[in-house]
Amino acid sequence: MTKPASGTRRSQAWFGGLDKDGFIHRSWMRNQGLPSHVFDGRPIIGICNTYSELTPCNAHFRELAEAVKRGVIEAGGWPFEFPVFSCGESNLRPTAMLFRNLASMDVEEAIRGNPMDGVVLMMGCDKTTPSLIMGAASCDLPTIGLSGGPMLNGRHQGRTLGSGTDVWRLSEEVRAGTISVADFMAAEAAMSRSAGHCMTMGTASTLASVVEAIGLGLPHNAALPAVDARRKALAHMVGRRAVEIVHEDLRLSRILTLDAFRNAVRMVAATGGSTNAVLHLIAIAGRIGVPFGLDEWDTWGRDVPTLVDLMPSGRFLMEDFCYAGGVPAVQRLLDEHGLLAADALTVNGRTVGENARDGVVYDPEVIRPWDRAIASQGGLAILRGNLAPRGAVLKPSAATPALMSHVGPALVFETVEDLKARIDDPDLPVDADTVLVLRNSGPKGYPGMAEVGNLPIPRKLVERGVRDMVRISDARMSGTAYGTVVLHVAPESVAGGPLAVVRDGDLIRLDVAERRLDLLIDEQDLQNRLAAWRPPEPIVQTGYQGLYVERVLQADQGADLDFLVGCRGADVPRESH
Ligand code: FES
Repeated sequence: MTKPASGTRRSQAWFGGLDKDGFIHRSWMRNQGLPSHVFDGRPIIGICNTYSELTPCNAHFRELAEAVKRGVIEAGGWPFEFPVFSCGESNLRPTAMLFRNLASMDVEEAIRGNPMDGVVLMMGCDKTTPSLIMGAASCDLPTIGLSGGPMLNGRHQGRTLGSGTDVWRLSEEVRAGTISVADFMAAEAAMSRSAGHCMTMGTASTLASVVEAIGLGLPHNAALPAVDARRKALAHMVGRRAVEIVHEDLRLSRILTLDAFRNAVRMVAATGGSTNAVLHLIAIAGRIGVPFGLDEWDTWGRDVPTLVDLMPSGRFLMEDFCYAGGVPAVQRLLDEHGLLAADALTVNGRTVGENARDGVVYDPEVIRPWDRAIASQGGLAILRGNLAPRGAVLKPSAATPALMSHVGPALVFETVEDLKARIDDPDLPVDADTVLVLRNSGPKGYPGMAEVGNLPIPRKLVERGVRDMVRISDARMSGTAYGTVVLHVAPESVAGGPLAVVRDGDLIRLDVAERRLDLLIDEQDLQNRLAAWRPPEPIVQTGYQGLYVERVLQADQGADLDFLVGCRGADVPRESH
């Protein structure tokens, strides 16, 4: 292959040569009806698209990609759209999280192996966002993010319905016998009534807000509804900007700095965002090489109040957040209180602080003033103790205040199947003070760390009006869920964490203010139990899942695969056919 002269574009290593390889690269592309000047050295923009009809939250992405293309062409570049593995949350089994790392490999290799100078990441449903950013971060080309936007507010029988959050609520009501199955079924179509992703502040909306807060997306990336015409205009501007950042050589590593992560943590706190963000941001930091972990999560988020009154922590939905001012309005409030790393660079070429100056709160019920915050300490709490030596996560804004300091006897479920078989048993030895424990549900144990951490309340307690209990597991929880739920316990039980040796009746103490999670047994007894413990056989040993179980890191390290951590750059080791 003829190498391009130094200083010319990366894509010219494919399209610039006058030899056999250049012929091959151009000729086959020209079967799409392209004239020769497309290959004249203009910026080639790869549009990394997670469109799939099996990922309903991203099913509108082909149309959105057309708007990106218009912007790219208008700015003098040329777009090539390419598909990557689409991790859809609502369909993928056993859990979309199992495939986040696989998808990130697809993204990384597709970017590195193809002729592109810059990348647009099209993200929406939960895992599609981290998988794309992780893969792109391992390449470090000029990169810009575009989220697909939330669905319109759900409406049913005169009331608002929020994705996920109201499914959990309605399904508990069915179990309690307070609504009919027919009413439950009727809510399905009313909840998901437009294109877009979950419109609660679940994981998708949290990560779309993070994309904006971390500087990877343009202002208002997070909250504009998927079907709002302004979303297409935003996509058009993303296309334009993708070309400009190639000219400016504005690589991802100049955006994803430690200060950018600080801004992301504080945005998650201020918006009452999902616990899943902990795993994803740590994994992204690992790819780009920024020293960022659980301690930063707790320290940076601790004094940030939850200002945005959205489900599951509050009342409203993303459409309301958009009309109230969206992420820029929250950034402005954070800046006014000294909690914005204002000098961090963003992908529009301005700093976060400059973008925040344009923020305006139009509805103080949705984006509350500091003195009317819905939680004064909105940050995700990182707990440690003899039950979670490497950490665990709890979302205070979604928990019951009275349960955040609690001692109760453990009731242990070995697996999700065990849980499902026994949770509604009328003879289950449980009361409202019991601490429900689920193990074998972490990254290796499930495998994939399923969203099963918000264990259902036992039916006999639901019928008595109990709606929350302390629950502890090595699993995750849907970002749309709520409750006093301790998640991501590390090390997980199948990796020999102390969760593996908890027994029914052991007292467990949760103290969120002190950030503690402890098993109240004698230290020697705990050590004896751990010494006698033997790991279970992995439930899969072959295929991708076997590789995943063997190489996945623990939750405190972002649950990435160990060999994927780090930035490998965009150079192709071998270039010829
Ligand atoms: Fe896709 Fe919730 S299921 S964002």
